[in-house]
Amino acid sequence: MAGKDSESTGRPEAEQGDVNTTPARRRYWERNLTGESKRWFEEDALHFLHQSLSTPVLNVIAKAEGARIEDLAGRRYLDMHGNGVHNTGFNHPAVVEAVRKQLDASLTFCPRRYTNIPAVRLAGKLAEIAPGDLNRVLFCPGGTDAIEMALKLAKLATGRFKTISFWDSFHGAGFGAASVGGEEHFHGGIGPLLPGAFHVEFPNYYRNPWGFTNPDDVDAECLRQIELVLRREPEMAAVIGEPVSADPVIPSKRYWEGVRDLCRRYGALLIFDEIIEGFGRTGKMFASEHYLTPDILVLGKSLGGGIIPLAGIVTREEFNTFGDRSIGHYTHEKNALSAAAGLAAIEVIERENLCAHAERLGARALERLREMAERHPLIGCVMGIGLHIGIDLVRDRKTKEKATREAEAVMFKCMGKGVAFKTINGNMITLRPALVITQEEMDGALDVIEEAIGEVERGLNF
Ligand SMILES: Cc1ncc(COP(=O)(O)O)c(C=O)c1O
Repeated sequence: MAGKDSESTGRPEAEQGDVNTTPARRRYWERNLTGESKRWFEEDALHFLHQSLSTPVLNVIAKAEGARIEDLAGRRYLDMHGNGVHNTGFNHPAVVEAVRKQLDASLTFCPRRYTNIPAVRLAGKLAEIAPGDLNRVLFCPGGTDAIEMALKLAKLATGRFKTISFWDSFHGAGFGAASVGGEEHFHGGIGPLLPGAFHVEFPNYYRNPWGFTNPDDVDAECLRQIELVLRREPEMAAVIGEPVSADPVIPSKRYWEGVRDLCRRYGALLIFDEIIEGFGRTGKMFASEHYLTPDILVLGKSLGGGIIPLAGIVTREEFNTFGDRSIGHYTHEKNALSAAAGLAAIEVIERENLCAHAERLGARALERLREMAERHPLIGCVMGIGLHIGIDLVRDRKTKEKATREAEAVMFKCMGKGVAFKTINGNMITLRPALVITQEEMDGALDVIEEAIGEVERGLNF
């Protein structure tokens, strides 16, 4: 098995995913970027401000369709990442058609103070499908902004400013979102963020600081931490978290019910960030449906059908009392083109039964991956819900030492065989394919992943 690579371990940036500074990434570039691709890659690096995880980029894409992307050299990859935006697949014909029709109707941007039919319809549709009694909607262009709106609303509604969120979580790159986010990668080096943003552990049953293996113990300790903060820091506005984390770590229902009870007892709101997990990803339209209805639900990514940037919040009638405040006030809050795309995407999810499809394919994939774990010591743990799956790679199952360099090697080997995904936390393979992926494609991808894991175990590194 591969040894430790100081260049690809221990950096905060690896918390988010595979990084663009490792020797393996350089080797990938040398092999894959030639001719046209090399030229555009270099131009990209010339014009964009460099930052971790984006510029310099991985490769240059020419096309994205269904569950696949295609690079400039014509190589096709089953994209099992898609930034969580491609639930209906890239450029679903029905979403493209809806966007085209809206362009033809000569109504795209809608100046604020006016409304338009697609925006009203989309808000109505979200009120219809959102869990429980959530029925009031605000839109904005991106997830970070939606998080800011949720925080603002919680602060207005409670008259308080403090928040509890989770270490290692990501809620966006803006100041408010980075304050509640738990990654040093996004908030380090920029000075003070929002005051009163407290963090606690997410209930990770495989990796937790206490070495607990019994989920009940993990739940109890995590709830104890939340209650401790609530007691010692009175006047908490909200607890904000993803119902299922991006890794994914999947808390028990009992855990979230415990958090909700604590919120009620201490007068805080519960905000669920479903920017990744919403719209069928977990096998239900919203991940909240596996648990409970939050006070504010935050949506994004796939909301725009993977074509137009769109995000927003859905909340209860009870909080529709701030008509004298601007909570969002985003220029594109009622963009007719985004709304047309969003409406079409939800209709696709419903018409094509993508929630049930994700549930079925996800269950089968988890079964296969758990069988794989019996053959492959590199697999420490497999977690998943619907088509939201994580494989935690370890050098030693007892110590759970993270197999960071190995995860990167598996990733590049798979890319060489046409299966693309990203790593998270340095050592986790995350699989979040488009929900339109077929059983055959999913099975093929798992074959490729198993082959790559086997090769890395045998020391055949990238
Ligand atoms: C869980 C979660 N929340 C918020 C965001 C921020 O969304 P955006 O990049 O659209 O600002 C992201 C983006 O990756 C996310 O994964």
